[in-house]
Amino acid sequence: MKKLIYIDEVEIKNKTILLRVDFNVSLNPDHSIANDARITQALPTINYLLKNNNRLILISHLGRPKGIDENLSLKVVVERLKEYLKGISISLAKTLAEAKEKKDQIIVLENIRFFPEEKNYSTLFAQKLSSLAEVYVNDAFGVCHRADTSVVGPPQFLPAYGGLLLKKEITMLDKVLKNPQKPFVAIIGGAKVSTKINLLEKLAKLVDYLIIGGGLANTFLCAQNYQIGNSFCEYEATQAAKRFLAKKMNKKPYIVLPKDAVVAKDKESKEKMVVKISEIPKDYCIFDLGPETLAEIGHILAKAKTIIWNGPVGYFENPNFRDGTDFIYYSITQNQNAVSVVGGGDTLAAISKKEYLEKITHISTGGGAMLEYIEKGTLPGIEVLKR
Ligand code: 3PG
Repeated sequence: MKKLIYIDEVEIKNKTILLRVDFNVSLNPDHSIANDARITQALPTINYLLKNNNRLILISHLGRPKGIDENLSLKVVVERLKEYLKGISISLAKTLAEAKEKKDQIIVLENIRFFPEEKNYSTLFAQKLSSLAEVYVNDAFGVCHRADTSVVGPPQFLPAYGGLLLKKEITMLDKVLKNPQKPFVAIIGGAKVSTKINLLEKLAKLVDYLIIGGGLANTFLCAQNYQIGNSFCEYEATQAAKRFLAKKMNKKPYIVLPKDAVVAKDKESKEKMVVKISEIPKDYCIFDLGPETLAEIGHILAKAKTIIWNGPVGYFENPNFRDGTDFIYYSITQNQNAVSVVGGGDTLAAISKKEYLEKITHISTGGGAMLEYIEKGTLPGIEVLKR
């Protein structure tokens, strides 16, 4: 059977390495880095490869540029890398030719999505990238669900290995998915049922409790004929939600949907109130879970042995509506008997500045990648590495 080989299982010395990382960091409005976790999490692989006297050509995307966009240049990432890797020569290369010419120990190729061939798969571009190096290493778990050229191309032309972050992500997810200690609880927030229905079906087979929050929950409430006022609802997905709930009736897992909610007239509102889910006023919207629902969730999370969480359960960007998301975060960190895996860009934005982060067993750098890995058990970027 084909197998993914990681860099710490082989000897890679004195080579030029094409290292695909996911430095898609969140940015502040002035385009400085808001959270550099995706950079720090890749440092073990970078240091490991440097220690063995390798030269690195780093490839990453940042954002979703349509062509060249100076606001999404990897310059800020290069500056941050220099702070973490003192004494190592690091420079940015705007073109493949520049990357080939430069002699620094680390060369960061400019945002790979500035090259149109990245998103429109190109064998020629994959070959050109491969010609820059002797070995390809993928440490970019967060983008392994995308069949982009720099993710799935070079492994077809170069010896290819997984990096240490990729190893950590896959090992942790496999641990909770293949051999979970029970009770196993999943909390899924976010907006759309249509993009998550297959994931929910998969999770329903694995977990004991499935907690549904955020905009996702609204569509399920609609499917149960609740009047949810002006709340977001994906009306075209209510049938799928109905079918999902019908199949699960009286069966495992126990599904938690909001019993009460924090509602307001709009998302910027400072006025809010708590109402039962059956009593949402016509001109109000659901922006967070209510206390009765949170009490039930707290009880479930306190006895959990395995927890997966992806997606905030309320509109946390307004501090008025972040109690539910905060409550879930603290409940998870309080339960030190559970293995916990938390991921998703919005979830991390909601918790990144909090205390007790170290009490979460694994904070995944993947958002969509984590969910697709749970759903399918593998990802395109992982499959191509197998030999
Ligand atoms: C992410 O942020 O989830 C990854 O970097 C992938 O980015 P994408 O959704 O723009 O492909």
